[in-house]
Amino acid sequence: VLVDGIPYRSLWIADGAVHIIDQRRLPADLVTAALNTVEDVARAIREMWLRGAPLIGVAAAHGLALAVRHDPSDAAIERAAALLLGTRPTAVNLRWAVDEMRAALAAVPPAARAETAFARAQAMADADAETCRLIGEQGLPLLTAGERSEVRILTHCNAGWLAAVDWGTALAPVYLARERGQAVHVWVSETRPRNQGALTAWELGKAGVPHTLVADNACGHLLQRGMVDVVLVGADRVTAIGDVANKVGTYLKALAARAHGVPFYVAAPISTIDFGVGDGSAIPIEERDGREVTELAGTRLAPEGTAARNWAFDVTPATLVSGVVTERGVVPATTDGLERLRR
Ligand code: MRU
Repeated sequence: VLVDGIPYRSLWIADGAVHIIDQRRLPADLVTAALNTVEDVARAIREMWLRGAPLIGVAAAHGLALAVRHDPSDAAIERAAALLLGTRPTAVNLRWAVDEMRAALAAVPPAARAETAFARAQAMADADAETCRLIGEQGLPLLTAGERSEVRILTHCNAGWLAAVDWGTALAPVYLARERGQAVHVWVSETRPRNQGALTAWELGKAGVPHTLVADNACGHLLQRGMVDVVLVGADRVTAIGDVANKVGTYLKALAARAHGVPFYVAAPISTIDFGVGDGSAIPIEERDGREVTELAGTRLAPEGTAARNWAFDVTPATLVSGVVTERGVVPATTDGLERLRR
């Protein structure tokens, strides 16, 4: 992606270090950070210097490469894997990436592991970018305006290039539509408490995509008034039967979309599908510090002593999902639909 004319990805390797955009500083400042050890990578994932399911996976792969450069033994790989797997529980891409790396490293002797690890991590980053571009191609036909000149899309959280390596998932069809001259407008929900909507607004602004930021609670109103043609969100985990874990608040949007007859699509790479889990209630839901709810940018909002719970994700049942947009096609959120992607 180009940001003010400069090509960027959300993660890259330079001078032996893994470089990322420090997303905690956006949208105010575009600042990068260099990660030199697996501990650095684990901290960056846990503290959300970087975030988004595909990017968490790719970052974990790079974390393993850094660990292996330091110590290529089996024991060191297992320690690094455990450290990375303990950072955030919901996005299954993390486990997927760690498993891929483990398998690749098990197949080569310790002396060759560092080279293999960096090559595999780099290949995973490149593959993620291409996968997301294909999600864009597959999702583009869903952006239909009907009688109007522009398609009005509602999205939640940030499922753009910042959440992947390039392109993004839910935003990939939007960027492609824009590139091909189709008029779009994106409603961006704020996404309290971490305000990932601001990241989406930043991305869209840099790409020249017309958009409007709204409070999370305004989305029912938008859907009720017929101001949305399609809801398009990302996912942190899709189960074998099509239940979808995504940023908390996604479920309410899916309910409102169904109530008002608006299609609700989930865009995700196949690596986000967890074929080992059926019912979405089995997905581990990350619970974060309650201060993210009682405070805003360090300023206390709630009375001292107020209890707060802070679930970072919720589960939208498959019955509310119009389809899952993957790199290999748009499939129904059903066992049969998703199973097709495995063949
Ligand atoms: O807590 P985050 O910011 O990591 O949550 C991100 C999301 O919920 C995204 O919608 C999801 O990972 C899809 S990203 C392409």
